[in-house]
Amino acid sequence: MRTHYCGQVTETLIGEKVTVCGWVNRRRDHGGIIFVDLRDREGIVQIVFDPDLSNIFETAERIRNEYVLHVEGLVRVRPEGTVNPDLPTGQVEILAQSLVVLNEAVTPPFQLDDEDVHEETRLRYRYIDLRRPYMQQRIRTKAAATRVLRSFLDAHDFLDIETPILTRATPEGARDYLVPSRTQAGSFFALPQSPQLFKQLLMASGFDRYYQVVRCFRDEDLRADRQPEFTQLDIETSFMNEVEIMSLMEDMVCDLFKRILDVTLEKPFPRMSYADAMHRYGSDKPDLRIPLELVDLTELMKQVEFKVFSGPANDAAGRVAMLRVPGGAMLTRKEIDEYTDFVGQYGAKGLAYIKCTDVSDIQSSGLQSPILKFFPEDITREIVRRSGAASGDLLFFGADKKPIVNAALGALRVKLGHDLALVEQAWRPLWVVEFPMFEWDADTKRWSALHHPFTAPACKTPSELSDDPGTILSRAYDMVLNGTEVGGGSVRVHKQDMQAAIFKVLQIDTQQAQEKFGFLLQALGHGTPPHGGIAFGLDRLVMLMTASQSIRDVIPFPKTQNATCMLTDAPSPPDAQQLKELHIRVRTVSD
Ligand code: AMO
Ligand code: AMP
Repeated sequence: MRTHYCGQVTETLIGEKVTVCGWVNRRRDHGGIIFVDLRDREGIVQIVFDPDLSNIFETAERIRNEYVLHVEGLVRVRPEGTVNPDLPTGQVEILAQSLVVLNEAVTPPFQLDDEDVHEETRLRYRYIDLRRPYMQQRIRTKAAATRVLRSFLDAHDFLDIETPILTRATPEGARDYLVPSRTQAGSFFALPQSPQLFKQLLMASGFDRYYQVVRCFRDEDLRADRQPEFTQLDIETSFMNEVEIMSLMEDMVCDLFKRILDVTLEKPFPRMSYADAMHRYGSDKPDLRIPLELVDLTELMKQVEFKVFSGPANDAAGRVAMLRVPGGAMLTRKEIDEYTDFVGQYGAKGLAYIKCTDVSDIQSSGLQSPILKFFPEDITREIVRRSGAASGDLLFFGADKKPIVNAALGALRVKLGHDLALVEQAWRPLWVVEFPMFEWDADTKRWSALHHPFTAPACKTPSELSDDPGTILSRAYDMVLNGTEVGGGSVRVHKQDMQAAIFKVLQIDTQQAQEKFGFLLQALGHGTPPHGGIAFGLDRLVMLMTASQSIRDVIPFPKTQNATCMLTDAPSPPDAQQLKELHIRVRTVSD
């Protein structure tokens, strides 16, 4: 039916007869001659309808945008002055000899080249939105990236193995999507938040190297880089330690970037401890393209009169830190207020600042700030010295509990980087390592696992772990790229006693542990080898590689902010009979 894609009709075909199929991108009537830009996945070609061929000309007159056509014709050079150097097919046109309208189309809800369409409309008519060349490009990049990743893993003897979708809960920190069982009244399957437990069992089974491109489901608050269902490239290996796993994964990601983007990433990726990342960047996924760093002032502020600073400085759980803003002395009062509101979203109660108009004149008028009066001159001098401020800079300060200071100044650092155009044009991957095993949750007064509870601790014995859980580091690693966590994994616990000790710290009692993870504990007692792995967020990786603003742009049919599908209107109420079979009664009033 078709000899060429529209986008493939170039000079090499001049004088030849071709058949193309595609969508009408645009139709123009030029004093009796009709031009149609015909589009398919490979590009656009210009078709010319000559009035002398009256039988098809009449049909051409009634075609509209997005009609689907079948055109046969002769490839010829475009007349001088009508060449389009921006198009690969811009030197030629097809003089139509036959035309079949394969299907008509009503007026589309938006023009394909309209950049300003509301996202809800785009999602409701996603099949049209996906016709846009840049959307096609993203979806194709995802397919290409998946192919490259698979081929790397295949070449390294990894086996592609499936794991169940209807399963038990896997604890990855989000809520589960539940599926009611018809055959067992009152029981539910959970959709996997990840294949974590199954891939560990596959190691117990001796498969040694596993991977899967797999859908995961997490009912959590959505953000620009999160979807309720997303795709992981999930990997597990036996008999490899974290150094070996990280090195192999680096090779894989370098191969991906080389083949898809022709970008050479430098190996090895830098390693940074979690503590260092929080200290210097206020984040466990630092964007290294931004040259600003937090400077700690906690010790220095212990003695000052300013309670806003000395309070947190003397609190073991507190922190005082500053951020230098190059050229920031130019910021207006209004801009400073806007940044103060911004950090407020992260719980900061204020955003003290010092304007450094002239750092050589600290005694009198070189610095301006409402808080200077609280500091003796030597402290002020030390602040300026540590900040490395030059004349014309501004210093912002955060003082509060550590998580608030880190979150507020960490986010401010990124925002300032973008606002002041300080973001380097580069790929800056790194590994964040040496995470704490546990995090203290002050609300529930319990320890919780920073990664999942199957992550191996860096200590040797279960008693070391139980003695002081707060000081134990884990053997986990996250791959971070330009401020986004693209992958995370760890060496796992492969001994029953250590796994039991972890559950105990997490206050999962023996009975609960048996009920939820008995099968895993049992497997650990049946000769499970040492093993470890990682999972990459494939959508996130492709989002970065295609410079997309949102993860939704690399998922063909994504969910909206409140986890609904605009296209199908899912989720939707089931019919009464279905509910009855599932032993479910829906309450209509909230009680
Ligand atoms: P983790 O929970 O870190 O680890 O997930 C791995 C990677 O998946 C991506 N990701 C997401 N992408 C889009 N939407 C989401 N809601 C979402 N949640 C996570 C991130 C993340 O780095 N079982 C472990 C892996 C392991 O230990 O091997 C796990 O799932 O890029
Ligand atoms: P106040 O004494 O509350 O008027 O605050 C003086 C300055 O300190 C103002 O610029 C506030 O924005 C700032 N400030 C107040 N609380 C904090 C805080 N927790 N961290 C940093 N700056 C703060």
